[in-house]
Amino acid sequence: MKIRGAPRKRSSFLARRHATVRQARRRAVSAPRLASTSPAALAIIAFTLALTAPQAKAAGEGVDELTRAALAAPADPLRGRAHYERHCARCHGAAAEGDDRRRIPVLAGQRFGYLVRQLAGFATAERESAAMHPVVAAKELRLPQTWSDVAAYLHGAAVPEHTRTGDGRQLGLGEATFRIECASCHHDDARGDDDGAVPSLRNQNYATLLSQMRRLSDIHRHEMAEPVAQLVHSLRSDEAQAVADYVSRMRDAAP
Ligand code: HEC
Ligand code: HEC
Repeated sequence: MKIRGAPRKRSSFLARRHATVRQARRRAVSAPRLASTSPAALAIIAFTLALTAPQAKAAGEGVDELTRAALAAPADPLRGRAHYERHCARCHGAAAEGDDRRRIPVLAGQRFGYLVRQLAGFATAERESAAMHPVVAAKELRLPQTWSDVAAYLHGAAVPEHTRTGDGRQLGLGEATFRIECASCHHDDARGDDDGAVPSLRNQNYATLLSQMRRLSDIHRHEMAEPVAQLVHSLRSDEAQAVADYVSRMRDAAP
């Protein structure tokens, strides 16, 4: 057995966690979900996005504003499905079931608000992603309306019947780690946050979960995600694998 050295100082995260979630809520979804944004206003916002993407990256405010605009747009899942089939299915799969071998996340059943916010993040380059940036370069994918349509389709899509799991040897450690370190935000059943700031981790494949955990701590996503990134980074590799294995067995669409 390896000697693991001094105990980790995770306690400072505890205080920050709840603050982070509150902040996420305020920033991401404080807008009323009314169908009050006109198509003209959305077009102006999209145009502004095209001009101000670099500044938006620095401030993070572009993402909040665009997320609010997209949440206020009445979503059309049928139109979203058409966009999905044209732009996304080749990687995320015909049924949005992901591809664990290529570490491509399952999107079916994911939280609506989370999906919208991530698409806004990719479009403003606030969230780094070599795979997603070329995708959101397409003109129609720079429109908040498109994100809300696609997110509505994906949120309602049937979740995959099977996920790939880990070897099942450390499920006790996985459950304990999840309950202590993750459930305060993702909830005991990994369903995520009702308003979509915190993703559902259900129905996700094991290797993809591990790789998203690593990405979260290795690359820049945004300021709000920093404390989460540090927390995930502070896990030992056996804890990270155990937690991914435990979570990869959680099923059903997020409400
Ligand atoms: C070229 C392959 C490819 C295409 C096409 C693609 N994606 Fe992705 N997508 C990825 C990969 C790989 C990741 C995971 C890596 C990352 O997080 O940067 C990802 C991540 C995401 C995420 C973040 C998931 C999470 O849990 O945080 C969302 C949301 C997403 N894609 C939506 C879409 C949508 C919507 C489309 C179509 C408009 C699309 N993707 C097209 C490869 C692709
Ligand atoms: C402070 C609340 C909080 C805690 C605690 C937390 N998370 Fe998260 N997690 C979030 C938020 C918020 C996001 C979305 C970040 C973003 O918008 O980019 C996230 C994103 C993620 C993602 C990325 C999903 C994807 O597909 O890209 C994974 C994986 C994840 N968390 C796993 C974990 C694990 C495992 C733990 C426990 C070790 C944990 N989280 C603890 C709030 C939290």
